[in-house]
Amino acid sequence: MDDITLETVRLILRPPRQSDLYGWARLHGDADTMTYLGGALPRSDAWRAMAMVRGSWSLLGFGPFCVIEKASGEWVGRAGPWFPEGWPDREVGWMFLEQARGKGYATEAAAACLDFVFETLGWERVIHVIDPRNVASHRVAQRLGSSLIGPVTLPGSREAWPSEAWGQSRDQWRARRQAP
Ligand SMILES: CC(C)(COP(=O)(O)OP(=O)(O)OC[C@H]1O[C@@H](n2cnc3c(N)ncnc32)[C@H](O)[C@@H]1OP(=O)(O)O)[C@@H](O)C(=O)NCCC(=O)NCCS
Repeated sequence: MDDITLETVRLILRPPRQSDLYGWARLHGDADTMTYLGGALPRSDAWRAMAMVRGSWSLLGFGPFCVIEKASGEWVGRAGPWFPEGWPDREVGWMFLEQARGKGYATEAAAACLDFVFETLGWERVIHVIDPRNVASHRVAQRLGSSLIGPVTLPGSREAWPSEAWGQSRDQWRARRQAP
C-alpha cells in the first residue's frame, strides 16, 4: 500500500504512517475542525482513527490519504476514498488543518482522489457525506462538480449524525475533466 502515492501541482497524497500522528492528532483534536464530525478527539482516539484508516488500506486496498504540502514538506490534512462496512456508498472525503484552508488544497486533493477512484479503483460513482450545516464542505463538493443527492443514514454509532450525500458519476467526472 505504501507505494500508492498521488501527486498534484502543490500536494503529495500517501497512506498514513505512524510518523503522521502529530499532524493527524492536531487535525482530529481541533474542536473547530471536528464541529460536524462528532467533536474533538484526544490523541489516543486520534491514533485509533488513524489505525482504522490504515486498516482500510490493508483490508480493502484503499483508504484516506495523508496530504503533504510539497513546498514546505508540512502535513496539511487528509483526503481520499472511504467505504467502511454499512456506509451508504463509496465516498471521497476531506479534512484540512485550519492554516491550510482557503488555498484550494481540499479541492485539489479531492480532484486527484476522484481520478484515483474512477480510473484506478474502477468506481462508477462517488458520494461525499456532509452535514447539512457544513457550508465549507458543500463548496468543495460543488467545486468538484458534485451535487446534492439527499439525506443518508450512517451506520452504527454515527446513526444520529445529520448527514446528506453529495456526489457524481464517473461519466460526469470524466466529462468535466475533458471539458476545455
Ligand atoms: C471543508 C474544508 C476542507 C474546506 O477547506 P477550504 O480550504 O475552504 O477548501 P478549498 O481547499 O477548496 O479552498 C477553497 C478556497 O481556496 C481558494 N482557492 C481555490 N484554489 C486556489 C488556489 N489555486 N490558490 C489559492 N487559493 C485557492 C478558493 O477561492 C476558496 O476560497 P473561498 O472559500 O474563500 O472561496 C475545511 O473547511 C475543513 O477541513 N473543515 C473541517 C473538516 C470538515 O468539516 N471536513 C469535511 C467533512 S464532510
